[in-house]
Amino acid sequence: MQIVTPSALLRDWRPEDAASLARHADSPRIAATMRDGFPSPYTLEDARRFIATAAGSATNLFLAIEVDGEAAGGIGVHPFEDVYRRTAEIGYLLAESCRGRGIATDAVCALAPVAFERFGIVRLQAGVFSSNPASMRVLERCGFAREAVHKNAIWKRGLLLDEVVYVRFGPGVGP
Ligand SMILES: CC(C)(COP(=O)(O)OP(=O)(O)OC[C@H]1O[C@@H](n2cnc3c(N)ncnc32)[C@H](O)[C@@H]1OP(=O)(O)O)[C@@H](O)C(=O)NCCC(=O)NCCS
Repeated sequence: MQIVTPSALLRDWRPEDAASLARHADSPRIAATMRDGFPSPYTLEDARRFIATAAGSATNLFLAIEVDGEAAGGIGVHPFEDVYRRTAEIGYLLAESCRGRGIATDAVCALAPVAFERFGIVRLQAGVFSSNPASMRVLERCGFAREAVHKNAIWKRGLLLDEVVYVRFGPGVGP
């Protein structure tokens, strides 16, 4: 799949993206905003494993965010299961060197409608740590509403944080 945004190309991951992914994702500041499953340090082997998982996934959608000819970040959609199967989560990250140019906003805004269409979901949501205002801003600019604050839900690096849940509903579906 390929989606052209005003600032990047969203495309399938390729094995040759491993080096740039490892370089950009190996950041304690990025890891601080992610769940603990996100490796830190982030090695070339981690990047290779992720790309293999991404390429082989039949249920989730993982796309690289290509900027200036290299994979500078990633964005993904992960449908939930069981009674939650009309809901999916969106996640993304971008190299620190590419921040502040609207790239993540463009990516989320472009992928959201595709996610509703492809997965037949009615809810697209993101759980943002309260320490991450940039991500909240991205979601707000893409039509996500702040739905709930799960107080003290996150234990990250010795700190209690709130989880702020943002949601966007599919066409014709309201809250
Ligand atoms: C979240 C992330 C993807 C944003 O990337 P980005 O390309 O810089 O985002 P954009 O440029 O599209 O937009 C960022 C917005 O946040 C704003 N912002 C940035 N830092 C901010 C801060 N500390 N406080 C408030 N707003 C902030 C910017 O001004 C911008 O808003 P604007 O367009 O209205 O000016 C990037 O910071 C990242 O990869 N973080 C680590 C991973 C992560 O947090 N993933 C999301 C987990 S829920």
